[in-house]
Amino acid sequence: MVDLMSVDFKLILAETVVTVETALKNVLDTQGNGLIVDPMRHAVLNGGKRLRAFLTIYSSNIFDVSKDAALQASMAIECLHAYSLVHDDLPCMDDDDLRRGKPTIHVKWNEATAILTGDALQALAFELLANLPNTEAAKIVKLSRSLAQASGMQGMALGQAQDIDAETSKNLLNLEDITILQQNKTGALIEWAATAGAILAGRDEKHLKDYSKSIGLAFQIQDDILDIEGDAKVAGKRLQKDVNAGKVTFVSLLGMDKAKLRAKELVEQSIEALEIYGDKANPMRQVAQFIINRNL
Ligand code: IPE
Ligand code: IPE
Ligand code: MG
Ligand code: MG
Ligand code: MG
Repeated sequence: MVDLMSVDFKLILAETVVTVETALKNVLDTQGNGLIVDPMRHAVLNGGKRLRAFLTIYSSNIFDVSKDAALQASMAIECLHAYSLVHDDLPCMDDDDLRRGKPTIHVKWNEATAILTGDALQALAFELLANLPNTEAAKIVKLSRSLAQASGMQGMALGQAQDIDAETSKNLLNLEDITILQQNKTGALIEWAATAGAILAGRDEKHLKDYSKSIGLAFQIQDDILDIEGDAKVAGKRLQKDVNAGKVTFVSLLGMDKAKLRAKELVEQSIEALEIYGDKANPMRQVAQFIINRNL
């Protein structure tokens, strides 16, 4: 059994944060115009746990994929995710003024800038993928297609639409509805990150897909738990948003204790799905545990 919160894990997570931030900074420092690059930097640098980057890099590590390719794919998913957060925080969506401990883009600049910053980050994600080093064109096509599917009308954008719709709909969501909504809203991008390594290696994605279905849900249950129990100073974003918006969440449906138990079971399931990969998958096991132990 691996020590799930070992010093090693904390080190490789911290190392991932620095490596991905440095690489993203280099790209933004050498491109574009300050008008749009400055808010892009604000959105994508100096903050974020880089969980999706970590999943991309360490799913790739299982198959000894080129480190440069894995890093660039991890930058792409972080740009895509940052775009989703910039738009999620807009006044017409969650109306949040704080993200990653800093004012949101529409507060520091304005709404038009926030929309355009999100647009540009989304475009940059696909540009980074198109230019993936050491990677055959067929794999780039597959990764780009799956990122488009995970982000758009079958994935994150659909989930966000379902989330917004649920705020005003008369029909209250049940556990199955909320599971589907969250799989779209948050799960799809996490699944892309966790299966990227197999796609880059040209290997079967099945085991990583099973793994990511479980951690995607566990991630969202923990987000809902932190919305109630978390410390806003640590989280760097406003909390108690879900209750105030009258949202149905895993916690409101299951109760706090059962929600925590469910998250724990899901992490155990995710770890089982990785059995075939032996010790090489230890960072993926550790990050699964981190997903429900995190306080930010
Ligand atoms: C927050 O995601 C938004 C959700 C999908 C619930 P993270 O908790 O991964 O945010 P960062 O990237 O660490 O800021
Ligand atoms: C955001 O979900 C999900 C996406 C941006 C796709 P939330 O609205 O729950 O995220 P937080 O709590 O603002 O980070
Ligand atoms: Mg939201
Ligand atoms: Mg939000
Ligand atoms: Mg939330």
